[in-house]
Amino acid sequence: MSTVQVDTPGGSYPIHIAAGRLDLLAQSLPADATAIALVSNPTVAAHYGQRALAALKSTGKRVVHIELPDGEAHKNWQTLNLIFDDLLQNRLDRKAVLVALGGGVIGDMGGFAASCYMRGIRFVQVPTTLLAQVDSSVGGKTGINHPLGKNMVGAFYQPVAVEIDTDVLATLPAREISAGLAEVIKYGLIIDADFFVWCEQNVAALRALDPQAITYAIQRSCELKAYVVSQDERESGLRAILNFGHTFGHAIEAGLGYGEWLHGEAVGCGMVQAAELSALALGLSPASVERVRALVQAIGCPIQPPGMAVERWLELMQVDKKTEGGQLRFVLLPEIGQARFVAADPEALRSVLEKSAVARV
Ligand code: NAD
Ligand code: GLY
Repeated sequence: MSTVQVDTPGGSYPIHIAAGRLDLLAQSLPADATAIALVSNPTVAAHYGQRALAALKSTGKRVVHIELPDGEAHKNWQTLNLIFDDLLQNRLDRKAVLVALGGGVIGDMGGFAASCYMRGIRFVQVPTTLLAQVDSSVGGKTGINHPLGKNMVGAFYQPVAVEIDTDVLATLPAREISAGLAEVIKYGLIIDADFFVWCEQNVAALRALDPQAITYAIQRSCELKAYVVSQDERESGLRAILNFGHTFGHAIEAGLGYGEWLHGEAVGCGMVQAAELSALALGLSPASVERVRALVQAIGCPIQPPGMAVERWLELMQVDKKTEGGQLRFVLLPEIGQARFVAADPEALRSVLEKSAVARV
């Protein structure tokens, strides 16, 4: 088993990574937990609910299973309230522990519910998608969507542990693996050029879920994310680099309608656009832009943005949380492995966006 330690002002906790961790969930529960709420959805529960419940019940504590509807469309107040309903109906007290078993949607909602219930109860992340294992379960961003913007309501709230069972990826559709790999290669692009090269060399093994390759990719991603969030938990500086490709990606998701492209797919394509903008704004070399495009394509994510008029792109991008005083800001790369957070040069941005406007006709 590998362990990655996360240390932030809001909490310190281990990330355990190994095949079969699901059966050992009891190990990560605080000894003084009065009860456990397992939060999941029918898709994940059908595969892993019984094993998770058996592991949690082995503690001898009362376990309540809360099933939420599956999908990004349900990441909202109504679904969040279902968690509070069950916690209250079952009289869980403030020493209860919430266990979020699922992808990023369940993790974000479960964590947000834990941050609010009785002003905060402890929670454990058990991420079951690759994207959640390498990104969303680590670092304490929790929340829900609002009709006017994605992830616009939430809290920074750290789990007490993250339990990653690499075996659960076996049931994940190939498209979800590709989406998760987009976040993996993001770490190489923003902070670790050697890891980017390693991803280039191991892309086939990663897509095939070769146990050694995928475990290393998860571990390295978690180490890099742990480093960033321990420097800047609340995103007042460095943490913004984790949003590389996301300003374009969020515009794609919102413009097409959530669910049309997966979040990771939109981020993958957004990273290609951000690399093109980096070339114009910071002099990223054409060869490096080509490497980004080639690897995004090789992991199975789209590289051609959807055709939208430039004004529509700009309108959608204004909702981004990185916007300050109405000015768009982007994470860009002077070279692979280094990131800078800069205000957009409007001419360069238009030039990148015009490409996708042209692709529309
Ligand atoms: P998701 O949670 O919707 O999961 C994708 C699909 O896979 C769902 O249908 C789910 O039920 C299913 N699934 C999950 N595990 C499975 C398994 N092992 N086998 C078979 N099916 C499985 O999507 P996601 O990509 O995991 O997460 C996306 C969400 O994460 C978005 O809401 C995004 O905003 C959020 N996010 C949060 C952060 C953060 O830092 N908190 C970072 C990145 C993304
Ligand atoms: N996924 C971006 C972050 O955690 O900050």
